[in-house]
Amino acid sequence: MNKKIVLSALSIVALSTSMAFALTAPRGGVAGSIHDMNQYPGATKDSQGRVCAFCHTPHHAATDGNDYLPLWSHVLPTTSYVPYNTATIDATIDPSTMMEGPSKLCMSCHDGAIAVDTHYSTTDNGSKHLSGDSFGNAALAENASLSNDHPIGFVFDAVAAGNPDTGAPGTSTEKGKDNYIKTSGAKYDGNLDTTMTVASRLYNGSQGAIMTCATCHDVHNKKNADDPTKTNYLLLAPNTDSKLCLSCHIK
Ligand code: HEC
Ligand code: HEC
Ligand code: HEC
Ligand code: HEC
Repeated sequence: MNKKIVLSALSIVALSTSMAFALTAPRGGVAGSIHDMNQYPGATKDSQGRVCAFCHTPHHAATDGNDYLPLWSHVLPTTSYVPYNTATIDATIDPSTMMEGPSKLCMSCHDGAIAVDTHYSTTDNGSKHLSGDSFGNAALAENASLSNDHPIGFVFDAVAAGNPDTGAPGTSTEKGKDNYIKTSGAKYDGNLDTTMTVASRLYNGSQGAIMTCATCHDVHNKKNADDPTKTNYLLLAPNTDSKLCLSCHIK
């Protein structure tokens, strides 16, 4: 085999790999995306090929007091995560309410402990798959800690109150107040939906409207704005030029 043939054989391998990931184009929806658990080679697929079933079920859904469990079909984390903390943070984060809303749901797979395929196998018998999985490393919280991750679980406008939602920083002279964060009226820079505000992506928790994982990510790969030439991180504004960060931070 000469060098040229070896190279083209390699490019076929490279092509088929990139084709698998081409399916994860931004805004294409959840089917075929990184959150379609049936596409992982070697992992247990849903017996009926359902996509939503790894997270939702039409019947026998999880219930847990008043917390947000949208027909949830997955084992939930019970961990009390250590929140982000610094001397300069203004946000108040109570570990007991930090995970309210979507964040808790995300951590039912991204905690690195609960198996990704731990969902109702079929709704009629209510049993759950409890097998191990091979979905890659989805873990985010090493040692039950979210202390090295962007803060979540705080009342957004308690931090940003009085600031503008666009343009120049606020002018408050209150001690310690961060004038360089926009209020929740801010829009996501570069999102096709020009009406979507940060407020619409906050969760109305017991403390008020809190920031969650879903304030930056769209789990269903439908409302996100990732640059199609870069990795699709399901972001509500592109990573390019840090448009996501600049949607909220005036920097
Ligand atoms: C990987 C997990 C996952 C999969 C797969 C998934 N969802 Fe969701 N879904 C969530 C989470 C988490 C929420 C909570 C709200 C949020 O984070 O945006 C949610 C919320 C919802 C909601 C209520 C709130 C809203 O945003 O509209 C509906 C309806 C919904 N999902 C439908 C679906 C359907 C239909 C499918 C399959 C085509 C699906 N989901 C697949 C995780 C998932
Ligand atoms: C049913 C399990 C499950 C749930 C629930 C879930 N995810 Fe995932 N997620 C995965 C898996 C599996 C991957 C792929 C991990 C890997 O292979 O590295 C993934 C990947 C991701 C990625 C990386 C995308 C990329 O291209 O690298 C992001 C971002 C993400 N999830 C965010 C979320 C958020 C935010 C939520 C909640 C709103 C959530 N996920 C809920 C299973 C889940
Ligand atoms: C302030 C916005 C923001 C919040 C809040 C946020 N993320 Fe992310 N996340 C990002 C960005 C941006 C990336 C892309 C990677 C990068 O730029 O370093 C990312 C990447 C990821 C990835 C894939 C890469 C990795 O490091 O594993 C996962 C999984 C993920 N996020 C899950 C979550 C979950 C779960 C939560 C809630 C506990 C969350 N994110 C909260 C902005 C955020
Ligand atoms: C949806 C709005 C939003 C987005 C998007 C966002 N942030 Fe934040 N960020 C906040 C808020 C609100 C705080 C809390 C600030 C405080 O309490 O001082 C914060 C806190 C922080 C802090 C900690 C500040 C401290 O005093 O310790 C850093 C650093 C930070 N963000 C960087 C980023 C980066 C980098 C990105 C993009 C990857 C990003 N943020 C995206 C709203 C956002």
